Amino acid sequence: MFDQLPAHADDPILGLFEAYKADPRPHKVNLGIGIYCDEQGRVPVLASVRAARALLAEADAPSVYAPTEGAQPYRDAVRRLVFGELETAPIVVVQTVAGTGALKTGADLLKDLSPEATVWMPDPTWANHAAIFEGAGLRVDHYPYYDGRTGGFDLDGAIATLGKLPAGDIVLLHPCCHNPTGVDPSHDEWRALFDTIAQRGLLPFFDMAYQGFAQGVDEDAWAVRECVRRGIACLVASSFSKIFSLYGERVGALAVHAPGADAARLLGRLKLGIRRSYSCPPGQGAALVQAILSDRALESQWRAELEAMRLRMRAMRTALHRALHRALGPGSDYLVAQHGMFSYTGLAPARIDAMRERFGVYLVGSGRLCVAGLNASNIERVSAALAAVRA
Ligand code: LMR
Repeated sequence: MFDQLPAHADDPILGLFEAYKADPRPHKVNLGIGIYCDEQGRVPVLASVRAARALLAEADAPSVYAPTEGAQPYRDAVRRLVFGELETAPIVVVQTVAGTGALKTGADLLKDLSPEATVWMPDPTWANHAAIFEGAGLRVDHYPYYDGRTGGFDLDGAIATLGKLPAGDIVLLHPCCHNPTGVDPSHDEWRALFDTIAQRGLLPFFDMAYQGFAQGVDEDAWAVRECVRRGIACLVASSFSKIFSLYGERVGALAVHAPGADAARLLGRLKLGIRRSYSCPPGQGAALVQAILSDRALESQWRAELEAMRLRMRAMRTALHRALHRALGPGSDYLVAQHGMFSYTGLAPARIDAMRERFGVYLVGSGRLCVAGLNASNIERVSAALAAVRA
């Protein structure tokens, strides 16, 4: 059975990261994979995480199996972070293996409960979304999202598609820092989307990997909370890789807002899916996040560190915008209008290849640029490369 295996193309993001690591050129710049780097180009160890690690080291607890759904204090802390003051809303939270694990756990649940539903994703979306949902056996299709003419959100296109869907279909949404475009709907646009979603009886599935990178922790959860305030059932996948700079620990959560559901039965169903997939979640990353979010001082230290990351990315957007304006004149306002880690340059694949081959500047083939990889020492090089391939 193994001698006729079809060949698979490398993953467009992870494969590019491997190519970047293998590139011997000293001035190479990684603007591909979504990893936040500090001004020195390093993945930071947050001081709040370091302090939480010290607490855990002191406690010296043995390594035991976590509950299938994760520890209760972790689940409570995540609930507060994502849903804020919505304390009475009927929400079940389970710990997952990062954001990808949350999407997969949610996809398995949906396939189980609603096998005929189609999952509608924004066009474009994260390169792995379709694979996760198709891998769970669900049908996948796309709704218009990015308007190439305006560089903004195509609300009319999205509503025209969503407004025709059958009840029970699933709509994948990025509540902030849309990946790959950095284009987020305004509050009014979200309201219009939720009107359509409620009218059609659709089920939103939010993928929230960057809470705090656009406007702030609570501001970025606005769309999720608005959906819950309206009583619309929804799923939320949270990733803590970026916002706690904990990429290797694989820490995340899935929340299900299910008005009218029996919460114990819903939790049981989720636990069934987790048990037959990976049995129970990893301990260390969740213990760190739990330690931070359950201690006032540590939480405010973390929030300040998250804010500093957000502001550094904004400053890099402004600096690149200025440099490109100097080199090419107007035309790069998208950099300052978009949010989060990513910008969509609109560059064709041949130009992306040229940036990598001629200048050692790595962008994802879709034209996505990770602004979190920019710093004072590489920004001129990046803007020169962008100007050269644009010219
Ligand atoms: C990205 O979009 O670059 C990140 O979410 C990393 C990944 O796993 O693709």
